[in-house]
Amino acid sequence: MRTPIVAANWKMHKTIREAVDLTRDVRRALLDVQGIEVVLCPPFTALSAVRDTLGGSWIQLGAQNMHFEEQGAFTGEISPLMVAELCQYVILGHSERRQYFGETDEGVNKKTKAALAHGLIPIVCVGENLEQNRAGQTSAVVGGQVRAAFQGLSRQEAARVIIAYEPVWAIGTGIPAEPADVNRIIGVSIRGVLAELYDEETAQAIRVQYGGSVKPDNMADFARQPEIDGALVGGASLKADSFAAIVKATLV
Ligand code: PGA
Repeated sequence: MRTPIVAANWKMHKTIREAVDLTRDVRRALLDVQGIEVVLCPPFTALSAVRDTLGGSWIQLGAQNMHFEEQGAFTGEISPLMVAELCQYVILGHSERRQYFGETDEGVNKKTKAALAHGLIPIVCVGENLEQNRAGQTSAVVGGQVRAAFQGLSRQEAARVIIAYEPVWAIGTGIPAEPADVNRIIGVSIRGVLAELYDEETAQAIRVQYGGSVKPDNMADFARQPEIDGALVGGASLKADSFAAIVKATLV
């Protein structure tokens, strides 16, 4: 049995003060919840304050990106060493990073290795865009991104990675994918590829989230699908009540 995991991707939202308030409210709203992992991913500037606010809570902390080098002349970048000082998780290869900041499959692979080497759990994002979806390339694109991200990872390393399947056309659009379609794509194009790269046991052990316009009223339909192990939530994670409702809907 895979433990479900729901992560909040706050993207470029929340000042330190706002992040602390939201964290406090999320913490309160999830006090009696069990049987699930929850990760908050604030912007870098708020990581330290959110960590302090979470002190003693079961809720975990993640960054939204990082460089793969430990240190050096990379102005504006944050290293795995620095992220690992504060966080347990790191989101890698989000489609917005691929689209606006030139992230490549190769870079995502380097970052995935660096995260694992520093004891971080990477949440590796994959997903096709609208054009690729319409051209019937979903399986090839998603499978290719998975193959690239896992290149050179041992079975033990691979088993620690979390994958977020996020169709680009569903992110921030209010148009989620069909739960049954997501289930099929994860089964065939993600677990199928992982079984080829490793073995069936490893493919079944790796947790795969869905992301893209997840809301309190659609989460249960995703959570009921056997291949979906939780969600990566953007917009609906910016309010404590909607995020808490999504976490709870994952458990029904
Ligand atoms: P969304 O974003 O929930 O706002 O669609 C999801 C994501 O980008 O991770």
